[in-house]
Amino acid sequence: MIEFKNVSKVYDDNTVAVDNISLKINKGEFVVLIGTSGSGKTTTMRMINRMVESSSGDILIDGKNIKDENAVQLRRRIGYVIQQTGLMPHMTVYENIIMVPKLLKWDKEKMRKTAEDLLDRVDMPVDFLDRYPQELSGGQQQRIGVIRALAANQDIILMDEPFGALDPITRDALQELVKHLQVEMGRTVVFVTHDMDEAIKLADKIAIMSEGKVIQYDTPDNIIANPANDFVKSFLGEDRLQQRETMQTVDQVMIKNPVTVTADFSIADAIRVMRDKRVDTLFVTDNQKVLHGVFDFEDINRSRDKSALVRDIMNQVYYVKSGTLLRDAADRMLKRGFKHIPVLDDDGHLKGLVTRASLVDIVYDTIWGEYEEGENQPLEKTDPLEVEKGGV
Ligand SMILES: Nc1ncnc2c1ncn2[C@@H]1O[C@H](COP(=O)(O)OP(=O)(O)OP(=O)(O)O)[C@@H](O)[C@H]1O
Ligand SMILES: [Mg+2]
Repeated sequence: MIEFKNVSKVYDDNTVAVDNISLKINKGEFVVLIGTSGSGKTTTMRMINRMVESSSGDILIDGKNIKDENAVQLRRRIGYVIQQTGLMPHMTVYENIIMVPKLLKWDKEKMRKTAEDLLDRVDMPVDFLDRYPQELSGGQQQRIGVIRALAANQDIILMDEPFGALDPITRDALQELVKHLQVEMGRTVVFVTHDMDEAIKLADKIAIMSEGKVIQYDTPDNIIANPANDFVKSFLGEDRLQQRETMQTVDQVMIKNPVTVTADFSIADAIRVMRDKRVDTLFVTDNQKVLHGVFDFEDINRSRDKSALVRDIMNQVYYVKSGTLLRDAADRMLKRGFKHIPVLDDDGHLKGLVTRASLVDIVYDTIWGEYEEGENQPLEKTDPLEVEKGGV
């Protein structure tokens, strides 16, 4: 956890860049700092790794005051990505990626493997390792900047407008990557942006800053539902506030408690459940209701072996997350011809089921309003085994 306790920064020319902020960032959280230019975002972020020293107040990481730690060592255990990538032009991509691991004296094999794995994650071929930064496009350089920040396995990653200069498609891909790495690898990310869409997409919590102060610090949903003042409202924009009011999410129409069985059910027992509950599809969950798969009557029919178990015939599931806008879920269902789509919470628990029948009640206008095709990709696919490992 990173904790700011009454932290201020006054620069030598008496500019008050940060004015008495207190803020808690939990382990594994994605926190976005957003605000007008000059509001103190970069200063706040740089105080975490002591690239800027605070003038008063304390910053604690996991309960320890960072003033008590050697600044260089502190910096090595915190990843940092800036807009201009900060890649060293005279070093190859490989040398850039392993800069910190090298300082930490990792062995060669481990560094090589880490660099190759990370490059693979951002869909770049391994021979890029031998290139120099200027032999890469801007987006490619930025990807290297991001994976360099991840290479040393640091628990905390600071990112200062890392995607500002990128085209929308590369930007989108890198946003997905960073969010994925944060969720999957449990890193704590502090991220600065000017772009509210980016903030809402990525953040677990958003800190809205103005004139060195934190005006509101909360989840995106809570900020949109209850903006603290007119400044926050104007920052969010009228559009977003109005949209939110009229737009329904899947949670509002889903059927709660769809019928489930566990993977060790026999097919004969599953058929009995279908008959008793009058359903033709069963969802397969574990005892904690984490969704693992789905099958329907046709799957049973196909498998003539009545002594088989549910786990032998179940399929992977398409699902949407709780909070997905109904119009997005409806659009996917109709395009892909799904009869229904399950709704999962962040931990993969089955929360409900949106059926075609539940869509009929909805006025079409509110669903399709001004929807632009491809605007959002809420649909995700589970690999049943992945779910078992807990990673929806
Ligand atoms: N080294 C410095 N010396 C003096 N003043 C500084 C210094 N660095 C920043 N400032 C001032 O501190 C205030 C906060 O700057 P900071 O860079 O933290 O803002 P920011 O929110 O990151 O802005 P931007 O969105 O433009 O990047 C600004 O008024 C800025 O001019
Ligand atoms: Mg800045």
